[in-house]
Amino acid sequence: MRRDLKEIKEQIASTDKTDRASVPTLGERFRFLSTVYRAHEEGEERFLFPAIDAKVPGASQVYVAAHRRIDGLRDTISGVFSGGEVVKLEALLSELDFVADAHLDQEENELFPLCDSHIAPPDQGVIFEKMAANVPQEFAHDVLGWMIKLQSQDDREGFLMFQMKFSPRPVFQGVRSVAKEVLSKAEWTDLTKRIPELMS
Ligand SMILES: [Fe+2]
Repeated sequence: MRRDLKEIKEQIASTDKTDRASVPTLGERFRFLSTVYRAHEEGEERFLFPAIDAKVPGASQVYVAAHRRIDGLRDTISGVFSGGEVVKLEALLSELDFVADAHLDQEENELFPLCDSHIAPPDQGVIFEKMAANVPQEFAHDVLGWMIKLQSQDDREGFLMFQMKFSPRPVFQGVRSVAKEVLSKAEWTDLTKRIPELMS
């Protein structure tokens, strides 16, 4: 999510603000990213936050507040992409990037360690499975492709190795076929050299 938003922000920064020609494409990309953000928020608010609040009352308040601030900025930016003043996009995207970065940092540095100390690993596994299942199946395919495209080759190798070792075979085969579909021939060939099992 961080990488995609930064790329959109950089592309808008280098766009001629008087020329709307490239803006619709970036608007589509931003709408997809917004859907991913929304799925992140819904999954946390439905399954993770109630679990941590049950152990540490009120612990999720700061994260819910950040979600609502991010929602507001997302709505404003979507409105601009749909026909507002393009010149405002750069500042708005920078603000969203700053707020979303701070939120994700805080979750990684404070919320997840808090979960580790109060929620047993098997219970965490159940919560993360519910969060993943909360994403509609047809959308999950697009999110997976989006994520793989944004990864570096080293990230892709690590991700596919992890899936190969820990996911049921049909799930791994599904991930493998999405990776093959979204990557260039050269990228896929390189991965099959790194992980020969991808060819089987
Ligand atoms: Fe969050």
